[in-house]
Amino acid sequence: MIIVTGANGKLGRAVVEQLLKRVPAEQIGVSVREPNQAQELQECGVRVRRGDFDDAESLHHAFEGASQVLIVSTGIMGEAGIPHGIRQHQAAIDAAKKAGASRMLYTSHMGSSPTSHFAPMIHHAATEELLKASGMAFTSLRNGYYAASALMLIGGAIKTGELIAPEDGPVAWTVHSDLAEATAAIISEQKLDGMTPNLTATEAIDMEGIATIATEILGRTIRRIVVSDQEFRDRLLSQGVPEASVNMRMGMFLASRQGDFAQVDPTLAHLIGRPPVNIREVLQESISHRQG
Ligand SMILES: NC(=O)c1ccc[n+]([C@@H]2O[C@H](COP(=O)([O-])OP(=O)(O)OC[C@H]3O[C@@H](n4cnc5c(N)ncnc54)[C@H](OP(=O)(O)O)[C@@H]3O)[C@@H](O)[C@H]2O)c1
Repeated sequence: MIIVTGANGKLGRAVVEQLLKRVPAEQIGVSVREPNQAQELQECGVRVRRGDFDDAESLHHAFEGASQVLIVSTGIMGEAGIPHGIRQHQAAIDAAKKAGASRMLYTSHMGSSPTSHFAPMIHHAATEELLKASGMAFTSLRNGYYAASALMLIGGAIKTGELIAPEDGPVAWTVHSDLAEATAAIISEQKLDGMTPNLTATEAIDMEGIATIATEILGRTIRRIVVSDQEFRDRLLSQGVPEASVNMRMGMFLASRQGDFAQVDPTLAHLIGRPPVNIREVLQESISHRQG
């Protein structure tokens, strides 16, 4: 049985929907914290069990009979020591091993590195070390940067006409739906062992490029304004953004400035058999939705 965790979340749910197009429902199980939110899946014949990475016993039940387990990263950062999210991923890896799965898959990220400026990349790198140390066959999906994050970055600028951010670099913005389709193909066709190539759309674009595209779509100017790192920090802090979130956002700009999210790769397009959705299409759809 293929087990998917995080199936009440955006990526996990989309992966299950794609898997349902490829394998019989009775071969799919989900491990979710709130089974009642997965009723639709149950009605399709998917096995729904409660699984919480903070509760090892629940995972043993949820992963029972697993052949492959897709571990969707929780994105939980935590404080000093071994961060909470990494302990959670270790619990999921242990449970997959105990269940006798022959392969684990994990939603990592392009730019995963122990020395990244962007904290989630350090966590992904640490989890990849756990996958290697498990002795099991694994696939670490080096997912592209979610295009949904670009929409968050440009959200305010569409109202104000000013996209204010520190110096950045190109990012290979990639949509959830393409990543989900590729993940389902990788699982059902048993493709790609170890670290995957970056699973990205075909272009990387910086904030200036995003402002230009938004300007064209809106028919009015969105000005990209580069501020110093200190000014950006001060602005966010004065808006009441907690310091940890400020550090996180700054980390993203520092990492992209270094080119950590710039490398595009054709693997995603090959897996889904068509060009991935590009950032212009994402912006177009989002802006028409706002205007509609
Ligand atoms: N590639 C990127 O650019 C990018 C950007 C942001 C995040 N990410 C990573 O990609 C992951 C999936 O993205 P998404 O958009 O699907 O996020 P999402 O909708 O927030 O889904 C995250 C999932 O993690 C599950 N989760 C949280 N704590 C858990 C726990 N203790 N035990 C088991 N499951 C737990 C959540 O379960 P519930 O449904 O029960 O809450 C949820 O289903 C994120 O969690 C994050 O690690 C990637």
